[in-house]
Amino acid sequence: MNETLLSISDLRVYFHSVRGEYKVVDGVNLTVNRNEILGLAGESGCGKSTVIEAVMRLIRPPGYIQAGEIMFRPEGEPAVDLLELDERSLEQIRWKYISYVPQASMNSLNPIMRIETQIADVMKAHSTLTKPEIHERATQVLDIVGLPARVLDAYPHELSGGMKQRAIIAIAMTLSPQLVIADEPTTALDVNVQRAILEAILNIKEETGTTVLFVSHDLAVHAELVDRLAIMYAGKIVEVDTVYNLFKQQTHPYSQRLFSSIPVLGGSRVRQESILGQAPDRLNWPSGCRFHPRCPFAMDKCSQIEPPLVEIETGHHVACHLAYDVATSEIILPTKEGQHEKPA
Ligand SMILES: Nc1ncnc2c1ncn2[C@@H]1O[C@H](COP(=O)(O)OP(=O)(O)O)[C@@H](O)[C@H]1O
Ligand SMILES: [Mg+2]
Repeated sequence: MNETLLSISDLRVYFHSVRGEYKVVDGVNLTVNRNEILGLAGESGCGKSTVIEAVMRLIRPPGYIQAGEIMFRPEGEPAVDLLELDERSLEQIRWKYISYVPQASMNSLNPIMRIETQIADVMKAHSTLTKPEIHERATQVLDIVGLPARVLDAYPHELSGGMKQRAIIAIAMTLSPQLVIADEPTTALDVNVQRAILEAILNIKEETGTTVLFVSHDLAVHAELVDRLAIMYAGKIVEVDTVYNLFKQQTHPYSQRLFSSIPVLGGSRVRQESILGQAPDRLNWPSGCRFHPRCPFAMDKCSQIEPPLVEIETGHHVACHLAYDVATSEIILPTKEGQHEKPA
């Protein structure tokens, strides 16, 4: 199992401006295993969508990929560095191997085309299927996301917001990609509609074995869906673990703060960024650990040395001086109470 499908190493995406370089993504390391749902979380503006756009090679000027490697290892095919591919090779990878549901794409359906035509267009462009085969596949993909076959004949305006979002996900599934990347597909939808989307994504994983990279700023949504969760802060990954472990205990002080701001079920939905305050300046990140100015546990070295992302327990990666002593290479495991102390 645990075979890596996608591995992102030291990815840096910068944006030119007259004021300088905005280091929006600045040294991201992340792996996605085959057949898992990996969640990417972090407050709005931390760089989640930019990471995804780099994977899809959709960064446009003034943005550019300053450094990094994104290895994609499709089943039965040689591994490729997505950052090295030319436009033609990329066209072959998109949809067929990796498909993408962009943020706020719910209203990107063509308003004057029936859903079946929109699914068929993708298939015609990327495969040689016949008309009846296309119809059969279109019915299948709608079923996978929990939509009835009659939706094929519908125009977008005849569908609810949640149905449109599921139709978009269905279109992403038409060519049986090995990886589906969905960026905030549940954001701005009400809780019941969100549930239908989450069920659709779980069903995709269960029925087709497709790997999913799921982006959301909403931890409550991750709790219901993902297998592992990566927490991003200020252009970097600060902690990764199984969603179960992370909800039980967070080691990075930023993760602790993020989790403590989860709105209570049934309570009013407070935007997380307002609780966490303004994120630091992307033109001028704080030195050392970027979280140190906001960290209640900051030590002298936190402003001087950047903490590396280290696997402190199997599958649990943290970038924090409280968890790893860079001078002695010693791992410092947190206690059950979430306190940090050196092991005996
Ligand atoms: N052209 C640009 N120039 C400067 N900054 C940009 C540009 N495009 C995006 N950004 C900044 O990158 C930051 C991260 O954006 P994004 O990846 O969308 O974050 P997230 O998806 O986590 O909310 C945002 O603060 C945004 O303002
Ligand atoms: Mg985003």
